[in-house]
Amino acid sequence: MKLGVCYYPEHWPETVWADDARRMADLGLSRVRIAEFAWSRMEPEPGRMEWAWLDRAVECLGGAGLEVIMCTPTATPPKWLVDRDPDMLAVDHKGRPRGFGSRRHYCFSSPRYRDEAARVTELIAERYGRLESVCAWQTDNEYGCHDTVVSYSLHARQAFRVWLRARYGTIAALNQAWGAVFWSQEYRSFEEVDPPVMTVTEANPSHRLDYQRFASDEVAAFNRIQTDILRRLSPGRDIVHNFMGVSTAFDHHVLSADLDVATWDSYPLGFLEQGRWSDEVKARFMRQGHPDFTAFHHDLYRGACRGRWWVMEQQPGPVNWAPWNPAPVPGMVRAWTWEAFAHGAELVSYFRWRQAPFAQEQMHAGLLMPDRGEAPAADEVRQVSAELKSFGETGSKASPVALLFDYEAKWMFDIQPQGADFDYFQLALEFYAGLRRLGLDVDIISPREDFSHYRLVVAPSLPVVDEDLERRLSAFGGSLVLGPRTASKTRDFQIPPAMPFGERVARLPLRVVRVESLRPGWVEPGDFPVSRWLEHVESDLVPLAKTRAGAGVWYENEGAHYLAVWPDPRLLRAALETAAVRAGLEVCDFPDDLRVRRRGDLRIAINYGPEPIDLADWIPGAADFDFLQGERRLSTAGVAIWRCRGEELAKL
Ligand code: GAL
Repeated sequence: MKLGVCYYPEHWPETVWADDARRMADLGLSRVRIAEFAWSRMEPEPGRMEWAWLDRAVECLGGAGLEVIMCTPTATPPKWLVDRDPDMLAVDHKGRPRGFGSRRHYCFSSPRYRDEAARVTELIAERYGRLESVCAWQTDNEYGCHDTVVSYSLHARQAFRVWLRARYGTIAALNQAWGAVFWSQEYRSFEEVDPPVMTVTEANPSHRLDYQRFASDEVAAFNRIQTDILRRLSPGRDIVHNFMGVSTAFDHHVLSADLDVATWDSYPLGFLEQGRWSDEVKARFMRQGHPDFTAFHHDLYRGACRGRWWVMEQQPGPVNWAPWNPAPVPGMVRAWTWEAFAHGAELVSYFRWRQAPFAQEQMHAGLLMPDRGEAPAADEVRQVSAELKSFGETGSKASPVALLFDYEAKWMFDIQPQGADFDYFQLALEFYAGLRRLGLDVDIISPREDFSHYRLVVAPSLPVVDEDLERRLSAFGGSLVLGPRTASKTRDFQIPPAMPFGERVARLPLRVVRVESLRPGWVEPGDFPVSRWLEHVESDLVPLAKTRAGAGVWYENEGAHYLAVWPDPRLLRAALETAAVRAGLEVCDFPDDLRVRRRGDLRIAINYGPEPIDLADWIPGAADFDFLQGERRLSTAGVAIWRCRGEELAKL
């Protein structure tokens, strides 16, 4: 695994570039990402390109032995472009164009902006595409950041109509799919259909779902314009994009099909503060980050791009954008780096080299302070870089467990949550955390992918089970755990003719005939306490657990499980453990603070908690491990690494 950094030569006098480059290399960094926001310097006036400064920056970095990840600058269209083509701006849900003065103000559907993006991509790729020091390209920057996937511009409206025609063929088919007879919403032609916005009360859910699908396709199409150009003009270089955490407004699985590597921007403390966790959890992990959140994204993005993934931006200190911005506990930047390694990252790149003393992110830490002195993270990077060298090549071993993650599920439950706290992302994260607590390594993949070779397949929820998925779920012979609201909708967002679940999975003959969402604080007593969501199931199967009132909450048949509730942690543990053990997997019972993962034949343990942990309390045989890194007693942010023995490896 390599280490890198994000650098903005345009922010600093040229006189410091060479020194910066040398210091980067001295720190053990080998890759530098540049230029993603530099359009106004590349093209200060329409058509007047200023490449000389960037040529010198690239030369300077290359001269220090650093490889360059070059970016297209399309996340920041400059002022002259916005003034010339104001209808390239995205339009918000109240019909207001987004203003200039930050970033990501463009509309993915604007034909003029697509042409501009293609033009600037072509120019930069022609100039740097074949340079030896350029090893990879990043398209744009963080699609969707600042809530920018969906736009209600006139261009988007027009493109949506074209998209609908391609999907439905006839307007009658659309009316049927949307149930448009309801409230007299029927259309006579595609030209009559507007985006689902500014309606008096909620817009038709099928209409909304299609708009989200359309918006997601627009992001992928916009990206493809750039990847096509880059492949042509810069052969042999990896093409990547930097995704975000908790980013679900477009389907990352679809977009990743056009990339070589999925990368993401990991800010564990910022995301913790922004997340839905309790104050108690936030306080406990304030300086370490949530033990499963970052790992979840590592696995999600590894699964998105056929196994290849990087961290493009790694938090190095306090950020500026969360409600509170604490500093990582000493050692945590190093520990985050090892967590990425454990999940198979090829690169961890820190954001950013030096803290900027000006503009929006002046309070965001870097590896250096604004005065060029080292910030605390620099030493940790130096340390982890030296440590990594001592490991050399490590193989990988497939995970035995797949978690099916579905972007459309998120959209559907956001559109009709039915209970205000039914959040698909949180549900997925809880299932994932349940698996990590058992000590299992997980691949997170799209339900469209083949999962037949896994020993355990877990789906927190799959609202749409189409014929293909139905066939694959039924044919799958391993352990299977399906969560609530699975098979509860058709792809058009209607209740299926055979009712939810509708006996669609061979091993689970059951139907859901009624659902209830439960207000916060309400707990339905029974074998396991039930809150938030409760389904009423009809089945000849005898449930493994019930509410006191007699509703079945956990069904199992021949290794396939259905959870008819939002599972409480104990129910989740019981179901996942039963399924894992049947699949022949060895399970542990890790506390909240300890997480362990395997890369090749190495196992990597990290303590996310504020108190020390003795591995021997949690892992059989740990007292006799030969540690390659660390020791069995892990302090906060402590990392221990050991090599698995043959028999141990076979069971994982
Ligand atoms: C990311 C973004 C960077 C920078 C960073 C600050 O979302 O890609 O440009 O803004 O956040 O944490």
